[in-house]
Amino acid sequence: VLPEILPYAGPSTVIDVPSRLLMGPGPANSHPRVLAAQTLPLLGHMHPPFFKIMNEIQEGLQYVFQTSSKYTLLISGTGHAGMEATITNLVEPGDTIVVGNNGIWGSRVCDMAARYGANVVNLEKEAGKAFSFEELSQAVTQHKPAVLFLCQGESSSGVHQNLAGLGKLCKDNGTLLLVDTVCSLGGVPMFADNWGIDAIYSGSQKVLAAPPGGAPLFLSQRAVDKLKARKTKPGSYNLDLNLVGDYWGWFGSRSYHHTGMVSMWYAMREALALVGEEGLDAMWARHQREHEHLWAGLTEMGLEPFVENPDERLITVNTIKVPEGVDWAALVKNAMDTYSVEIAGGLGPTVGRVWRVGIMGYNAQPQNIELVLAAFRDGLRKQGRLP
Ligand code: GLV
Repeated sequence: VLPEILPYAGPSTVIDVPSRLLMGPGPANSHPRVLAAQTLPLLGHMHPPFFKIMNEIQEGLQYVFQTSSKYTLLISGTGHAGMEATITNLVEPGDTIVVGNNGIWGSRVCDMAARYGANVVNLEKEAGKAFSFEELSQAVTQHKPAVLFLCQGESSSGVHQNLAGLGKLCKDNGTLLLVDTVCSLGGVPMFADNWGIDAIYSGSQKVLAAPPGGAPLFLSQRAVDKLKARKTKPGSYNLDLNLVGDYWGWFGSRSYHHTGMVSMWYAMREALALVGEEGLDAMWARHQREHEHLWAGLTEMGLEPFVENPDERLITVNTIKVPEGVDWAALVKNAMDTYSVEIAGGLGPTVGRVWRVGIMGYNAQPQNIELVLAAFRDGLRKQGRLP
């Protein structure tokens, strides 16, 4: 005899999704073509037409990472899954990882790497500043870590980490260079091969402007060699790149590991196609232009960047100092209530200290920047900070 079924009446209304302009650190709004791709009929995750779409995604990823490595794929999950995939595969228990930690992402990598048994060297730096080559060189030559982690775009502080020269430094010390590009990929230059980077993960919902749920990932040959030479299996089955890579055809055949996120991957295929149609150089220039547009308006209002060194300012996530006595949350609420625009507050070390404005992908357009500026102007006026 089955027990009584617990009741469920369902929601009393149809799904309610207000139209919002997402100008925080992501997700960003998607191009209609990307959203439309998600409405296409489902395919089986092992069907040849779906494999063709997976191949097209890998080619698109080679372009955005600027690599000829065949080791690109989408992890099923958000940027965090990409982060965890690189850690669990590239770090063996007892390995040393030096973590450039100048915001929330470095802290999370320290936490994750410790869970997988790594010897974590937490290279801490005040939020709002990037690491110098000398600081990193000193840490790498001293510790000779298996992995050096850096975040190219620290979305909690708005810092852009320069990666020049680090590939050679790491190679010379037997270290793999791992870079988080969750909020930067597609908006600022990345040359994985030329810069000697060994592993990169990103997120679908930021500059690439697809819905959340796919984490672009890249490994160099050196990183794959390390994966193949491991003495122990990666601690995560779900993220084991021997297995996930085999689903994506890395090793010459394809076998079932998990069910690919069929509709999400259609969306990524289209998002990457759009990047190819525009061209990376045009895309980087568009993000730079709108970053300058934003700051011209903010500066007129007397607002200042949180990141002092102009060379270290990230253009895809802009951090704006909250002036003394201003209620940052009230301004955020007014932007949403009056303009249906998302402006974000700080995160981790910057909570209460900054606003964050994302300039990402499909949203990096002048009319959207004008709306953000209008929301700032109105919010500051309502607090008596502007005439
Ligand atoms: C998420 O990526 C954030 O920066 O808020």
